[in-house]
This record gives sequence, C-alpha cells and structure tokens, in this order.
Amino acid sequence: MHQIAPSLLAADFSKLGEDIQMINDSDADMFHVDVMDGVFVPNISFGQNIVKTIKSVAEKPLDVHLMIVNPDQYLESFVDAGADILSVHYEACNHLHRSIQMIKTLGVRAGVALNPHTSVTLIEDVLEDIDQVILMSVNPGFGGQKFIYQTLLKIKQLKDRITERNLDIKIEIDGGVGLQNAEKILQAGADILVAGSSVFKSDDPVKTVSQLKQIGINTTSI
Ligand code: DX5
Ligand code: ZN
Repeated sequence: MHQIAPSLLAADFSKLGEDIQMINDSDADMFHVDVMDGVFVPNISFGQNIVKTIKSVAEKPLDVHLMIVNPDQYLESFVDAGADILSVHYEACNHLHRSIQMIKTLGVRAGVALNPHTSVTLIEDVLEDIDQVILMSVNPGFGGQKFIYQTLLKIKQLKDRITERNLDIKIEIDGGVGLQNAEKILQAGADILVAGSSVFKSDDPVKTVSQLKQIGINTTSI
C-alpha cells in the first residue's frame, strides 16, 4: 500500500501547530519537511529549530528533505531535531556514499533525492545502501509547480532496477502531485506521494489525503 506524505511547506505557518494536528488526524503516513538553504535552491524555508518544533507536535514520522549544499555538516543536527528519514540531494554531495553512511550511523533511514535532470542510473552503485529515493517531479525550491511528466519514465526505470535486484527501497515522488495524476504515478511504481499544495490548498485537506490514499488501492504496478 502506498503512503502519503503531506509537505508542510504548503501549510499555513501562522497556525502550523493546527495544520500539523490536522495531518495527525488524517490518513497521512508521515510529514514531508522541506529544508532549503537559498544556495542549492533559490528559496529559503526553515532550519533545525522549526524541525524540532514540528517534531514536538507531530505524531507521525518526519521525512526530512534537505535541499542544501554541504549536507554532511548538518546531518547530525537534523537527526537531533527529530528527522526519522533524512534525504540528501545527489547533486549536493561530492561523496554521496559517505553522506549516506553518516545518516545510517546516526540511526535513521537514509534517502537520496534526484533533480529532474538527474538520471536514476547515477545512483546504481549506492542502491544497496539506501532506504528511499526521492524523484523530484519539479525543479526543487517551490511548492505549487507543475508535475514534469518525464518523471513517470524515471519511476519505471528505477522500479525495474529495484525489483531486479530485489531491494527494499521506497520510491517517493515530490512535486506537483495531486488527485489528477496520483494514479499514473502509482501505476508507474511509486510508493510514497508527497503532496503540498494539493492537500493544504484544498477545501478539505483531510479528505484530500484520504482520497490520495484510496487511489492506489486497486492499482497494481506495471
Ligand atoms: C519542492 C519541495 C516539495 C514541495 C512540493 O522543492 O521539495 O516537497 O513542497 O509541493 P507541491 O506538492 O505543492 O508541488
Ligand atoms: Zn520535498
């Protein structure tokens, strides 16, 4: 069964606690937490203190997506702040294998995120070491962008490799995901759907989460 990870980037920060509580009470599986440094991506979001505050209210795991340069320098502080899954960008790591090992040594699940232009073939040599791959389906930095359809092919390619090698790796799709495209994304082989605007900007976020959760129920991977 696939999982839903609402992205808090699209929450109303003036009532973040209430929005987190709303997701606690929904069918969502985890919180997607976007950390942006204004260097790796052209936007700044929030850092460890906010993650810690989110953790104090959240009743589901924190899936922390680091869109920052030099992530090694900050891994420990984000684990201390409460990350349960910590993902670094392929494009931000000179020594990706080392970054992954550092995350695992810190005792949390390790993920690698790929920008839309980055081929899934580039992480073949670290697949054995990771728990999840975030395939960006928009250029990272902002919520509310349009889903890039080429991502569907990347999902299939990655899914095939994972299956061939009999690995236990979740494929998470991040950016522009909503009720209109979730089925196709799941059919391609995705395991986790990140949903920011499509959840928080909808009239009934809790209902949207359950609709997203239901979509895959009769969907089999192709
Ligand atoms: C984009 C972030 C996404 C973003 C998704 O850089 O990584 O997680 O919050 O937002 P939507 O679902 O609105 O595209
Ligand atoms: Zn994200």
